Amino acid sequence: MTVYRGHVVHIAGAPQLPDADAALVSERDGALAVDAEGRIAYSGPWSGMPASLAADEVVHTDAYLLPGFVDTHVHYPQTFTTDAYGGGELLEWLEHCVFPAESRLADPAFADVVAREFVRRRVSAGTTAALVFGSAFPEAQDAMFSRTLDAGLRVVSGRGIQTVGPDSAAALLTSEDAAIGLAADEIQRWHGADAAGPASDPRRALAQVALVPRFSLSVTRETLGRLGDLYADVRGRGVYFHSHLNENDRPGDGEIAAVRALYDVDAYLDTYDGRCLPGSAASGESLLGRRSILAHAVHGTDRELHRLAETGSSIAHCPTSQLFLGSGTMPWRRTAASGVTIAMGTDVGAGDEWLIPRVLNDAYKVHMSEEGEAAVALGPAQLLFLGTLAGARALDQEDAFGNLDAGKDADFVIIDPAAQPGFAVSLEAAGAGGIRSELFTLLMGMREQAITGVFVRGRRVAAPDPA
Ligand code: GUN
Ligand code: ZN
Repeated sequence: MTVYRGHVVHIAGAPQLPDADAALVSERDGALAVDAEGRIAYSGPWSGMPASLAADEVVHTDAYLLPGFVDTHVHYPQTFTTDAYGGGELLEWLEHCVFPAESRLADPAFADVVAREFVRRRVSAGTTAALVFGSAFPEAQDAMFSRTLDAGLRVVSGRGIQTVGPDSAAALLTSEDAAIGLAADEIQRWHGADAAGPASDPRRALAQVALVPRFSLSVTRETLGRLGDLYADVRGRGVYFHSHLNENDRPGDGEIAAVRALYDVDAYLDTYDGRCLPGSAASGESLLGRRSILAHAVHGTDRELHRLAETGSSIAHCPTSQLFLGSGTMPWRRTAASGVTIAMGTDVGAGDEWLIPRVLNDAYKVHMSEEGEAAVALGPAQLLFLGTLAGARALDQEDAFGNLDAGKDADFVIIDPAAQPGFAVSLEAAGAGGIRSELFTLLMGMREQAITGVFVRGRRVAAPDPA
């Protein structure tokens, strides 16, 4: 048993977003006891540690102990594409900047460079679990899964599926048959503890696979229909579905207008819901459900939000990326009122921050700046909830991680204010106003350098050397 002594802060239990504040736990002289299996045996005041939990080692951190951050939308093949000038809005940026950049991962040696940097950035950011939008190239996916498991992080990912696209996407496209075949292969190779490879390797359980059509404009009715059929076969094994939804509403030729015109639907979401299939041989199975996460949902209708909530699907909210691409602001009150689970995504590379608290910082600002009565000031406990427990819930793995409740896996980060110049002073000043103002400053002001330890299942995560 290893005991970490420090300021334990998390959202306990399984509250809904409005109740996050009541569930906020702050133990200034706290203890987190981690057993040999990497589970949390005790979390609470240091003084309350049961004598029966004999500690082999006590680590005095003099720092904050928080749950690991969860990033529910991040693009691995765009690791080196943040801050790239690709021209204006989504579709131009994809064509001129992203598709050429992602095509470079066809070279396995380069893909491994990207995979190493991708893992290193996630470790630096304390992102213990991530839903990773994958590369089109299976070997590049192998590099990402291997490097991730070598480091000891959690991952859900799938190769980015594209069956149609502009010339600049040519290298990323496959036939319809290959799109389905490669997805099925990836499930066999990487999905969960029963994936191919040594069954005795416990790290296997940290990796899961998703079906990931890039978005409805990168695929066809046939692709979506056949993915629906495949999903009906594999959803029982816990396979995920992940894509983009309602990101850019430029009138006429923007993403949403183009999807509606191409698929002849009223609502973009219908294309993922088995409702756009006249003329396809597929049976019309929905891709929505408890393990379905759609990124953005900035411009959804109430019907779409209701349908997401009803099916247990989640939204990966990516305000940093939405600022970069001028995609607008997801209406916070209307979206939250629908009951859909909202979690956070960096959306690297349209997002240029790897650290979930930086994305929370943008979320706070953009929703504070919504028009009139729509404006909302998210509270500190809500922000912490969104960056941790909500992510675990969106990934349907809330039983395993997301907070520091006893019995869960010990996925946590050590945040040491002394490692970030000036931060301790700001936090001390904020702390005079109580834990809520202290937590707000912690989340809004934190940078990577303050994260001095990252743990998954009790094991310290090791970043690969820079490429
Ligand atoms: N829509 C389709 N592909 C992408 C992508 O790579 N990034 C973002 N932000 N939106 C997309
Ligand atoms: Zn994205």
